[in-house]
Amino acid sequence: MENGVNRVALIGTGFVGSSYAFALLNQGVTEELVLIDLNKEKSEGDAMDLNHGMAFAPTPTKIWYGDYTDCAQADLVVICAGANQKPGETRLDLVEKNTRIFKSIVDSVMNSGFNGIFLVATNPVDILTYATWKFSGLPKERVIGSGTILDTARFRYLLGEYFNVDARNVHAYIMGEHGDTELPVWSKADIGGKPILEMMKQKEGYKEEDLDEIFVNVRDAAYHIIERKGATYYGIAMGLVRLTKAILQNQNSILTVSAYLDGQYDGKDIYIGVPAVVNRQGIREIVELELSEKEKEQFKQSVEVLTAIKNEVFT
Ligand code: 2OP
Repeated sequence: MENGVNRVALIGTGFVGSSYAFALLNQGVTEELVLIDLNKEKSEGDAMDLNHGMAFAPTPTKIWYGDYTDCAQADLVVICAGANQKPGETRLDLVEKNTRIFKSIVDSVMNSGFNGIFLVATNPVDILTYATWKFSGLPKERVIGSGTILDTARFRYLLGEYFNVDARNVHAYIMGEHGDTELPVWSKADIGGKPILEMMKQKEGYKEEDLDEIFVNVRDAAYHIIERKGATYYGIAMGLVRLTKAILQNQNSILTVSAYLDGQYDGKDIYIGVPAVVNRQGIREIVELELSEKEKEQFKQSVEVLTAIKNEVFT
């Protein structure tokens, strides 16, 4: 807030980036939003289009298309740029291409004199958040990945449907890689204070497989959407807005983000999805839950998969 107002710089105005910009404007979260994209015409068009909605927005947002020099005054740089998954591809398949793209983006942002917080959404998000931390040289607290924020939201939605309860009253986390090795933290999941594992067993017509089915639908949700419409963007865009609010409004919200582990959950030198308190400083602290033995084992496997890839990329 160097110039007295909140500025968000968005890098990448593809499906995810432009949906994020739209959601941000609709929720009136920041005073300034600068759109930066390799395709200047696209970001210029987006700025025009979004500005035409200003009269309908809850609060004014100054929106323009710009370049990396605009990052100097930014409080938050959100990166949505990069290649996305094609049908049949995993998030990890994108690693090489997007790491190269990130080197050039993060260098350009840092060369502007930027000294705020990075929020990374591009996949594979855990690896690219680590890359952003490495390339930027910023403190680990000020580099955050969207992690499993969307997976957690999908989980809460599906559990809400299953029990016919508002998803916002479902407290349940997906942790680990934002990808195929993520895990549901059933042992700590509750609805209005009632443990979900107990509620499940009391539910009429409950089957043991229901739990697995709900989780598999969460884990594979992106594949199902990509098969149908080629990309996912509304859910993640809303998750990014939620994170933006937690940061700019200093909310101290607990959200499952990709955060740097330095011994927590037995992870070291890795960014991975964990519940963490997020505020104006970035990641205030990681919330360490007492996981069940199975969950610990699953989390360990997720750490191992990400560590192997990280070591390959950063040797
Ligand atoms: C998603 O989970 C593809 O990571 C994206 O929707």
